[in-house]
Amino acid sequence: MTTAETAGSPATGRTFPDDFLWGTATAAYQIEGAATEGGRGPSIWDTYSHTPGRTRDGDTGDVACDHYHRWREDVDHLERLGVDAYRLSISWPRVQPGGRGPLNAEGVAFYRDLIDTLRERGIRPVVTLYHWDLPQELEDAGGWANRATAEAFGEYARAMATELGERVEVWTTLNEPWCSAYLGYASGVHAPGRTEPAAALAAVHHLNLAHGLAAAAIRDVLPGAQVSITLNLHVIRPDDASSEADADAVRRIDALANRAFLGPLLDGAYPADLLADTASVTDWSFVRDGDTALIAQPLDLLGINYYSTVRVRRYAGTGERSENDGHGSSAHSAWVAAGDVEFVTQPGPYTAMGWNIEPAGLTELLLRIHTEHPGLPMAVTENGAAFDDEVVTDADGRRRVHDERRVAYLHDHVAAVGDALDAGADVRGYFAWSLMDNFEWGYGYSKRFGILHVDYPTGERTWKDSAYWFARLASSRTLPPVTASTP
Ligand code: FCB
Repeated sequence: MTTAETAGSPATGRTFPDDFLWGTATAAYQIEGAATEGGRGPSIWDTYSHTPGRTRDGDTGDVACDHYHRWREDVDHLERLGVDAYRLSISWPRVQPGGRGPLNAEGVAFYRDLIDTLRERGIRPVVTLYHWDLPQELEDAGGWANRATAEAFGEYARAMATELGERVEVWTTLNEPWCSAYLGYASGVHAPGRTEPAAALAAVHHLNLAHGLAAAAIRDVLPGAQVSITLNLHVIRPDDASSEADADAVRRIDALANRAFLGPLLDGAYPADLLADTASVTDWSFVRDGDTALIAQPLDLLGINYYSTVRVRRYAGTGERSENDGHGSSAHSAWVAAGDVEFVTQPGPYTAMGWNIEPAGLTELLLRIHTEHPGLPMAVTENGAAFDDEVVTDADGRRRVHDERRVAYLHDHVAAVGDALDAGADVRGYFAWSLMDNFEWGYGYSKRFGILHVDYPTGERTWKDSAYWFARLASSRTLPPVTASTP
């Protein structure tokens, strides 16, 4: 994909509905910093990032983008971008340091001020309650492998609904529980860094349960609330489309990655093949009577995060088994009980994460959900790309970032959303990941996903060309050409 190709794309110029929400997204631990200020308690990501060898260059979120102190400036950027909505997350340990018990008034006030200011500027707050920063005390008591963590989450959600009330436009319970469960507890490339496959499946269930308890608690306090969850559903391709063994590999990974969440959330049950595939690891006795009914609360919106696709085949059992699933390498697999499935490197082009660029996968994913659950409203709650951006100084002395590959990526993926709309999918919004460069988890500050560049030593924000392009998209509601990115 080149700029020239996309410049001539037939999708350029297409319009989107007036009420379609254009937004950008961030997460608390990735941007806030102020890790020990304002009464915040430690989270699993503080512990993990401070453990030698866990993150690239030992990077931590201690300072990050210093958003905790610079949030007013960041809201100014959002206003200048002209976005309709902003997806942020609340740091649980900032508002309830121990994960249970008393709230930290200073932390609650931070989010109340931020959300009120967004609303004053006409920007709708889409608020995620859990974007991976579990209070450390809850991990010390067993973390997501422990049912009590789900119960604590339900109480935390109730407290936030009570404190923040009608200010919040959309409540998102969890971000990507797939990552929390499998990367946190099976491969260990995310906090808390455990490598216990049975605990990972218990975490899958307790995260689902946490969603159900939180959704019920939010509606109990705010009967009209809009409740959602955001999933990183996988688009899975067989290596050989004519191979039955590869088709079975797709089914296996679909069960672990997608249906382990979609099943209980939307169909009220775990898929039978998932339970059978994982029987050597657990008997799923952590699922109690009534749990799946609790999880299947009505959903007002399904959030979908999409970046790339995966390709799988049956592992032949000789030679080195590849696990190029794009989620970081570990001696322990994220794919519980799927040692006979191999993740094959995909055709390019790639982003700086090594993720393949395939916009059609997004259309396919939105249409899959549309077909399986007709009428379910969806939003793309994250989509974007990391590239090795360079800051240059133009002749007029202005700092600029000419990130034409990111502009092309965004252009082609927004076009893919347009294709899904044309085919009848009920997609309500699109949020670019991310508003600004930030702490990319295990990769630290080495990967830049922002449409705003952040100079970490000074905290200075600079609009990349993609930010100018996105501002034009948000104001015109028409897909601009990739060449429309200069101010
Ligand atoms: C998603 C996460 C988000 C960010 C992007 C690149 O999995 O939700 O925080 O790290 O990937």
